[in-house]
Amino acid sequence: MELKGKRLVLGVTGGIAAYKAAELVRLLVREGAEVQVAMSEGATHFVTPTTFQALSGRPVYLDQWDARMPNAMAHIDLSRQADLLLVAPASADFLARISAGMADDLLATMVLARDCPLLVAPAMNRQMWENPATQRNVAQLVADGVGVLGPASGAQACGEVGPGRMLEPAELLAGVMDFFAPKTLAGRRVLLTAGPTFEAIDAVRGITNLSSGRMGYAVAAAARRAGAAVTLVSGPVALDAPVGVERVAVQSALDMHAAVMARAAASDIFIAVAAVADYRVARPAAHKLKKDEGGVPAIELIENPDILAEVAALPGGPFCVGFAAESQNLEAYAQKKRLKKKIPLIAGNLMQDGFGGSDNRLVLFDDQGTHPLPPASKEVLARQLIEHIARLTGEIA
Ligand code: PMT
Repeated sequence: MELKGKRLVLGVTGGIAAYKAAELVRLLVREGAEVQVAMSEGATHFVTPTTFQALSGRPVYLDQWDARMPNAMAHIDLSRQADLLLVAPASADFLARISAGMADDLLATMVLARDCPLLVAPAMNRQMWENPATQRNVAQLVADGVGVLGPASGAQACGEVGPGRMLEPAELLAGVMDFFAPKTLAGRRVLLTAGPTFEAIDAVRGITNLSSGRMGYAVAAAARRAGAAVTLVSGPVALDAPVGVERVAVQSALDMHAAVMARAAASDIFIAVAAVADYRVARPAAHKLKKDEGGVPAIELIENPDILAEVAALPGGPFCVGFAAESQNLEAYAQKKRLKKKIPLIAGNLMQDGFGGSDNRLVLFDDQGTHPLPPASKEVLARQLIEHIARLTGEIA
């Protein structure tokens, strides 16, 4: 419920992407936001107000003369109560009108009369988006302090391919969350590892573990939301890269080591969430091992480099954060790892809580002591961890 207590007005203008706004309302409400929808007349040709009313649990406003507003001032009253006005989709015509300060329908009048920030998510044909007039209008809006989410590039409803697609609802939700998140890591470069590693035995088999990547991906998203530039070195997982995060996909611990060491010196913070295999196969077979190739194969293992310890030992290197998944004696083992790797902060979790699921329990250990966090989703814990890191690195009091 990252948006609990936040009041949003969602303006929907006419365009085929209006159907995606319905899913956006669902996602915003699921995150705890109160969503008041206002539609342009054009939008009602694509989706009915009833759909938005059902999803938001509130009546939808369509024009500024709506009799439900006792003072007949819908254009003022709606935005006065809002923390954010988001227009998605925002058509080329709408962007042109609001960049010129026009107030010729409810949505445009609301934009002009608002006392809250405005985000727009453009959606239009690629030629319309690339037209100098639209580019001029968008540049004017940006200069006026309006946030622009997207557009994305790809196949369009008209059959053409190019820029102008509205961002997907999940991407818009991320944009809204980014907007509200305190920017405690603004200007910082954060490097992370996440997921398992895969150590090849032969061409098709290997040694890996049950890390899903969820904890590390949540920390990456939280760091991005806090304003950092984030690079995520990820072992093989079935997750999409968080919006705005650069992902470097790797397989083995050696790959992960190389990818991290190439970037560590240029990072301010390194957070090692990955469950890295301690050992790899000394001589992986290039072909698939055959059962009848001389009995049970003996697999010789050799130690992998300790990525976190190496980064922590870099002179003038980043602020290092480790993770420890233990099956017992969490405090003793996590602290031992922290001191051995010479890192200022380690997040301990019990193996049975941490691996795989959507929730976790974390206990943070640093020079000041022990900081248990209440059990929560990995997203909530990630945010708390990032706040803790921001405090320790002096970004917030
Ligand atoms: O991915 P999920 O399913 O969400 O699960 C999350 C998690 C349980 C994997 C995560 O929360 C976690 O605890 N990760 C660390 C697992 C662990 O116990 O690692 P470790 O004890 O092997 O290593 C300690 C620290 O050193 C870790 O930060 C690890 O990334 C790092 N390390 C370890 C070995 C190595 N060769 N290089 C490293 O950088």
